Amino acid sequence: MERDQATHTDGQPPLDADLLTRLKEICYEGWEIWSRFDVRVRRESFHPFVAAEYEDVLPALISVRAPGRRFLEWGSATGVITIMADLLGFEAYGIELDVDLVGEARGLADAWGSGARFAAGSLLPTGYRFRGRREGEHLGTIGEGTSGYLELGHPLEDFDVVYGFPWSGEEAMMLDLMKCYGRSDALLLLNTGDHGMTIYRGGRSIIAEVGAAIRGA
Ligand SMILES: C[S@@+](CC[C@H](N)C(=O)[O-])C[C@H]1O[C@@H](n2cnc3c(N)ncnc32)[C@H](O)[C@@H]1O
Repeated sequence: MERDQATHTDGQPPLDADLLTRLKEICYEGWEIWSRFDVRVRRESFHPFVAAEYEDVLPALISVRAPGRRFLEWGSATGVITIMADLLGFEAYGIELDVDLVGEARGLADAWGSGARFAAGSLLPTGYRFRGRREGEHLGTIGEGTSGYLELGHPLEDFDVVYGFPWSGEEAMMLDLMKCYGRSDALLLLNTGDHGMTIYRGGRSIIAEVGAAIRGA
């Protein structure tokens, strides 16, 4: 096999080939689940679940993995990214508002022998209010519900790496959430679709276009 873009990042040992194969299979299954969901649910009425390009998120996860790191996916939907994080060695958790999707994620984790944990609830801590200051900065498609951190067993400050896939205009809220409740040394991975993955620490972008950087390495 040719050297794979997702197997090797600076300062990290290459990934085990079997693990990489499993991760790619999970991406594939994730897309199949998403396609069925799109037909069954989204063609009937709006639903905020849109699947990430999982293969683009994977290199970013690989680039920030380290033993013992605790990972949280905001809006974990079918759990594909949280499960990949678990298999990469993170202690991995997901929060998702849609209870049916949480059930789907737990089933997928079991099927892949993953210990990823999922809570049904909101990614917004109790009492949080976003006061967007600029036009276009809003809660967008972020729904309301009981905060999920109690069920998760960890407040936001316990996480080393947090991942989110914001709809347009929601990035500011996610950055504000980390500023208000996250640890200042924690990493925030925002999947900004066409703009790739951006990694923040303490509110500053530390590696723009991580996916592109890794591909070019
Ligand atoms: C754009 S999708 C991202 C799915 C997945 N994280 C990915 O990257 O493929 C956003 C997800 O967030 C969920 N969601 C919306 N509001 C939420 C909230 N307040 N708390 C937790 N999840 C929420 C939606 O149901 C949806 O599954």
